[in-house]
Amino acid sequence: MILPVRKFDSLVIGAGGGGLRAALQLAHADANVAVVSKVFPTRSHTVAAQGGVNAALANVLPDNWHWHMYDTIKGSDYLADQDAVEYMCRAASHLVYELEHAGVPFSRLDNGKIYQRAFGGQSQDFGGAQAARTCAAADRTGHAILHSLYQQNIAAKTHFFDEYYAIDLINDDEGNILGALVLEIETGEPLVIEAKTTLLATGGVGRIFRTNTNAQINTGDGMGMALRAGIPLQDMEFFQFHPTGIAGKGMLITEGVRGEGGYLVNNDGERFMERYAPNARDLASRDVVSRAIYMEVKEGRGCGPNKDYVLLKLDHLGADVIKQRLPGIRDTSITFMNVDPIEESIPIYPTAHYTMGGIPTNRFGQVVVPVKHSAEEAIPGLYAVGECACVSVHGANRLGGNSLLDIIVFGRSAGNHIVEFLKSNRHHRPMNWDSVEQAMQRLRRWDDTSDGESVTQIRIDLQKEMESHCGVFRTEEILKDGIEKIRAIKARMVNARLTDHSNVFNTARIEALELENLVEIALATIHSAYARQESRGAHSRVDFPVRDDKNWMKHSLFFMQDEQLDYKPVRTKPLTVDTFPPKERVY
Ligand code: FUM
Repeated sequence: MILPVRKFDSLVIGAGGGGLRAALQLAHADANVAVVSKVFPTRSHTVAAQGGVNAALANVLPDNWHWHMYDTIKGSDYLADQDAVEYMCRAASHLVYELEHAGVPFSRLDNGKIYQRAFGGQSQDFGGAQAARTCAAADRTGHAILHSLYQQNIAAKTHFFDEYYAIDLINDDEGNILGALVLEIETGEPLVIEAKTTLLATGGVGRIFRTNTNAQINTGDGMGMALRAGIPLQDMEFFQFHPTGIAGKGMLITEGVRGEGGYLVNNDGERFMERYAPNARDLASRDVVSRAIYMEVKEGRGCGPNKDYVLLKLDHLGADVIKQRLPGIRDTSITFMNVDPIEESIPIYPTAHYTMGGIPTNRFGQVVVPVKHSAEEAIPGLYAVGECACVSVHGANRLGGNSLLDIIVFGRSAGNHIVEFLKSNRHHRPMNWDSVEQAMQRLRRWDDTSDGESVTQIRIDLQKEMESHCGVFRTEEILKDGIEKIRAIKARMVNARLTDHSNVFNTARIEALELENLVEIALATIHSAYARQESRGAHSRVDFPVRDDKNWMKHSLFFMQDEQLDYKPVRTKPLTVDTFPPKERVY
């Protein structure tokens, strides 16, 4: 079969903030860059980020990047790599001002400066009073940033392949990445995109869980491609449950609500976070607040007829603040719960939100893999940024407002590195058609029209099993059972078929390909969680309730082949300042 081929200097897979920020850097350097996105770019999941982006601008309260660095490392439960965290926190202010100049309509203070709100885990002076570090465009910050980045890319002549789905990476026998096989969703036609560099920016994988804040598109496609290419996934046991999802449904109600002065109450009307985090209270870090809500419900202090949620109270903020600062969550609450937060509290419960783990990278976005004697090396021409990557700045628990920062900082940094790479790699390497053929087989497998099991049913079962076996609190017994359950689901994939042949939007095959990714990543997640015998950040083992720095201050690496796990050290040495040594983590 002869396939059409398009050639570019750089291929970016994913059009969220990370992909678009990298593409912009490349286009401005006159690279010929293509962005492949399975949805129209401004529908990428960055659009859903609500509360804001962290930078120590000190517009509202005193602040500096070093305090931000401390909070991020403490928030990560000391698993983050401190060189990468320093790099990110130092770059933050510059990159937020750059966004301002690109036209992002940030909310404003009376003096005209960018509005900043308090978010969880933020402090002044290394653990002192609450800081206000999150730069916000009302509660639609991601929307504002994504639209600006898209417009800038259009102006810079980035080439977009809208509604194309990436099947697999193409590589040669020496391990070079040559581009990817993609599929035009509307026509079902495959296309080979040859590129000197390929950057994965495909976002997180919240869809492995039933209740989540993620868009339907968050199916871990880049992580799946990496696994199939023999690249491990790092720290997958650390999945963030956002404390305030709409109860029973999962949509995000921003932490910005608590930053504006909202708070959580149980069935007795008690502000229960005072018991769990006496200083930070409702603005403790997310893992702490999620566990507290879970405990309130478990111990019978939940609200509603089934006592299965708590309430987020914000009516005392007044209609003006809610309409001006939190219009999006008011809309969400009215739409999905018929609750107007100007008058009533919102029923909430923790919901799967953010993938701290991902494709291992260094701070230049290069994908790195282990080699002999605990060293690691970069895969030539392959990059990853944003939620699909693990750089690692979030460690075991991400602070709110650091995900938008991560994508703009490391999107730019990867773009800069690629520009340098292209200077010494001026020509395309010879195409490896065997690798293309292998990717095509993945596609053809779904042409089978014989009877089989529905893809949708397998996905629903996967999400339920992950929710019940790999949630906020974990035990050896539950995780072990979960591994068997997910393996059984993987075995069912052999018999899975596209049962809906009338699918007019030609998306049934895409959902099947996405499910292949979800299954492999669910296995990576639950295996890594089973193996880690300690509690750290978002990974709470009831049977190992204490953090164990002696044995577990290390990153996990899960390989798809033979479901193998390996480990690598945390980089505890920052770039220029002193290490923040692990301490007991209290809020
Ligand atoms: O709560 C929020 O607005 C979410 C922000 C984030 O995940 O960074």
